[in-house]
Amino acid sequence: MNVLRFSDLVAAGRVAGQRVFIRADLNVPQDDAGRITEDTRIRASVPCIEMALKADAAVMVTSHLGRPTEGEFKPEDSLAPVAARLGELLGREVPLHSAWVDGVDVAPGQVVMLENCRLNKGEKKNNEELARKMAALCDIFVHDAFGTAHRAEASTYGIAQFAPVACAGPLLAAEIDAITKALASPRRPLVAIVAGSKVSTKLTILQSLAKNVDGLVVGGGIANTFMLAAGLKIGKSLAEPDLLGEARAVIDAMAARGAEVPIPVDVVCAKTFAADAPATVKAATEVADDDLILDIGPRTAQMLADKLMAAGTIVWNGPVGVFEFDAFAHGTETVARAVAASSAFSIAGGGDTLAAIAKYGIEHQVGYISTGGGAFLEVLEGKTLPAFEILARRAAG
Ligand code: 3PG
Repeated sequence: MNVLRFSDLVAAGRVAGQRVFIRADLNVPQDDAGRITEDTRIRASVPCIEMALKADAAVMVTSHLGRPTEGEFKPEDSLAPVAARLGELLGREVPLHSAWVDGVDVAPGQVVMLENCRLNKGEKKNNEELARKMAALCDIFVHDAFGTAHRAEASTYGIAQFAPVACAGPLLAAEIDAITKALASPRRPLVAIVAGSKVSTKLTILQSLAKNVDGLVVGGGIANTFMLAAGLKIGKSLAEPDLLGEARAVIDAMAARGAEVPIPVDVVCAKTFAADAPATVKAATEVADDDLILDIGPRTAQMLADKLMAAGTIVWNGPVGVFEFDAFAHGTETVARAVAASSAFSIAGGGDTLAAIAKYGIEHQVGYISTGGGAFLEVLEGKTLPAFEILARRAAG
C-alpha cells in the first residue's frame, strides 16, 4: 500500500518547526476509579511522539477514549489519566488542552494532549466543518491510530482529507506492513486460526479467508458448528445450527481450492461450564448428549501444532478453547507454543488472543501483535480500512 510515511518526512528534514497533529488510539481500559489497567496502546504510541519531538516539531496528540456523548463533558471521559501516563513514559509533562478546536498554543519541541476528540460535536459523523478546523491546526497530520483505522471520523478521516500533508505514523505503518506481509503477499502455506464463541460474529472473516488461506483452523464455539456441519455430534455445546449451511460452504470453498478446514478428531468435554468441572478427553465421535465441548483434545492440538510448524505465515485470531480455565487451556497453550516455535511469520490480534499470548508469555515470539480490535477483524474480513484508503489517496496526490 502506497502511503506517505511520517518517518520519511522526518528523514527528509520536512518536520522541524512544523505543527504536527498526531491522531493516536489511546483508548485504554480503566478501572472504576479511572486508573489505567492496561497501557499497551499508550506505549505503542510513544515512538511516533518521540520521533516528532526529536525532529523539533510542535506536537499535538489526541485520541478518543470510550464513546462519550458529543458536546457533553464528563470527568470520566477525560484523557487526563492518559496524559499523565504518557508523561511518565516520555519523561516530560504532557499538558492537557480542552476546547482546542479553534486554536492550540504549542511551540516546537513541545507536546500537548488535546482532550478526548469524541467530545467534539460532529466527530463521529465526520462533520466537514469540524474536520477543516482540525486540519487548520497543523501543517502535517499523522494518522497513528490503527485501533481506529476502521472508523471514518473527523479526527481520523476528514482531517486527513484537508490537512496540508497527511501521512501514516510508525505504528500505523508497522500494522500496514505486517498485514501486507501476512495477507497480501504471504509466504505459503498460509494458515489462519479463527476461533471464538460464534460463527455469526466471524462469518465474513471465515468467508473472506476461505478465498486466500491454505489452512483454516476453526476453534471454540465456531469449531462446534463446523463439527456439526461435518456430521459429528456435539452434545449440548455452544453452536449455531442455523449456520450449518454457511459452515459447509466454507469447507467446500476451501476444498475446491485444495485447501482444508481441519475438523477436531478429539475434544475435552465437561458436564458443566465451570473451572473445576471434571475434564474428559473423548474422540470427536464419542461426544455424549449431555457433554459440553470446552477444548480441543491432545491429538487435535498436536495435529494443529504440526500444521503451524510447517506454515510459512500464520494469522491468529481467537483461543481454541476456554483457556481461562486451566483444565481446558491445553489446546490454546499448544497452539500458542506452536505459533511461537514456528519459523512462520505470525500476526495475532484481538483481545482474547492477546490475553492468551500474555498468559503463555510468547509476546516476543509472535511476528507482529496488532493493537487493533475491530480494525484487525475488518482487515481479516478483507475490507479496505478508511484510514488506508484516504492516506493512499493523499499519497497519490
Ligand atoms: C477499540 O478499542 O477497538 C478502538 O479504540 C475503537 O474504538 P470504537 O469501537 O469505540 O471506535
